[in-house]
Amino acid sequence: MKLICANSYQDMSRKAANLISAQVIMKPNCVLGLATGGTPEGVYKQLIDWYRKGDLDFDQVTSINLDEYVGLGHEHEQSYWYFMQKHFFEHINIRPDHIFVPDGANPDAETVCREYDQIIQRHGGIDLQLLGIGVDGHIGFNEPGAAFELGTHRVRLQQSTIKANQRYFASEADVPVEAYTMGIKTIMQAHKVLLIASGPAKAAIVREALFGPVTPRVPASILQMHPDLTVVLDHEASACLPAEFTA
Ligand code: F6R
Repeated sequence: MKLICANSYQDMSRKAANLISAQVIMKPNCVLGLATGGTPEGVYKQLIDWYRKGDLDFDQVTSINLDEYVGLGHEHEQSYWYFMQKHFFEHINIRPDHIFVPDGANPDAETVCREYDQIIQRHGGIDLQLLGIGVDGHIGFNEPGAAFELGTHRVRLQQSTIKANQRYFASEADVPVEAYTMGIKTIMQAHKVLLIASGPAKAAIVREALFGPVTPRVPASILQMHPDLTVVLDHEASACLPAEFTA
């Protein structure tokens, strides 16, 4: 594991964006596994900025997103499809047919998940997987207790995740209770994993995930076993790490 402590959210975003840029420059037709949520917004802003300056080209890049709410179609403003368009894709030159997000509008979980795994396989797997982490240690929507050996599947969201994501909806009751998510197996098969975390609310779970026991109780803890994991934290998210890692 390579651990990088940044001194602010902006610095974390820039450092993570640098690593994604390097991937795109080294392999222009790479497959990026991308995440939604508050944490990567700054990363996407930075990548858009470099794209506008002519430093990055996404023409051959494929993006395969981590997850989507069950029941929300592309046009829904809280769907992850919509999020990715608004925060990233509509600002860069990625091709529309190179963008993949699980189809939240399709209630047939078996078909959605089987086809999503086939898409990942057909593209030769994910070169670089960007991840945020939930306060309960989830990655993608793999909540505590999720089996490590699953591919894409449908999950029921934990109450803490629904509460955390309520900020994007009119009320807690509007947050979908189910999602499609890449499984831990899919994530672990990515060639490189880039985990980012920001803010004091993530400090304790970051320590548990990176330095605690590897257990399905903390899904992100499996990342300790990944052969090419880079973690970029802002100052606040690194607050609980053992001192030798923050110096
Ligand atoms: C998003 C995702 C989630 C988030 C996590 C952290 O696609 O899969 O695992 O990464 O919930 O969310 P934020 O960044 O909003 O704290």
